[in-house]
Amino acid sequence: MTITVTPCSESFVAEIGDIDLRKPLDRDTVDALSDAIDTYGVLIFHDQHIDDQQQQAFSRNFGDLETTVRAYRKDFVPRLDVHMADISNLDDQNRVLPKNDRRRLNALGNRLWHSDSSFKRVPARFSLLSARVVPAEGGETQFADMRAAWDALPDSMKRRVEGMICEHTQIFSRGKIGFTDWAPEELEKMAPVPQLLVRTHPGSGRKSLFLSSHAGRIQGMEEPEARLLLMDLSEHATQPKFVHTHSWRAGDLTMWDNRCTMHRAREYDETKVRDLHRTTVSDGVPTVLEQAA
Ligand code: OGA
Ligand code: MN
Repeated sequence: MTITVTPCSESFVAEIGDIDLRKPLDRDTVDALSDAIDTYGVLIFHDQHIDDQQQQAFSRNFGDLETTVRAYRKDFVPRLDVHMADISNLDDQNRVLPKNDRRRLNALGNRLWHSDSSFKRVPARFSLLSARVVPAEGGETQFADMRAAWDALPDSMKRRVEGMICEHTQIFSRGKIGFTDWAPEELEKMAPVPQLLVRTHPGSGRKSLFLSSHAGRIQGMEEPEARLLLMDLSEHATQPKFVHTHSWRAGDLTMWDNRCTMHRAREYDETKVRDLHRTTVSDGVPTVLEQAA
């Protein structure tokens, strides 16, 4: 089986065709997909009506899966398996969450530009998001090209930020939208973790900004100054020329490289069901231990 790779632009986002993600893939196909994601950062597959087991099997071609953070609160009943992140507006009985539900308010954090699991010492390498039910309008996912954003920075800014270490926690990202409803046992698990601000993407050798809504401090810098620099860099990196918008159809699967992209969810009518399931391939090592370029 030879897959087709149709780029949306020279080096960002490609659509993959002639592939059935329900079936095991041979080595050549996995290698071709690995090459494609190294080059394009985001891959889009259409008409893939897969279940959670098939999604996990496909994802494991690219590394070990993260397990979702759960049991933060004793009353929380997960809807999905421990290897699936529940990107939906549903409770464990598949009912739409009420407007004031804490899970919904927390999940609104996905509307901020971020890189998955950057609040973990070992963040995510790839995320794979499968659309099971989508609303007729809205609820798009946007992706921003952080290698192109790096390339476009003035040399003086490149010199200034290279080597900087940021601190990331969900307390920072949720705090930006005024979500502060954490239990003491949650806060304990949410201590900030260090992340490089500039990374070299191994598969392409290109440098990339590593930004995320979870970033809130830069080591050795006063906090207001650090926050402003992070805001300026994010504003730069999410200009329309670096952004691709994906409008979902049920059966779509997108796969992105969190080392060199950011993403965010867009608004939709939340009385309608939006049900997406995510698997996440872990990156293996903390960014601060990555090989210096
Ligand atoms: C995610 C995420 C955005 C969306 O799955 O990690 O941020 O559009 N999703 O739901
Ligand atoms: Mn995400």
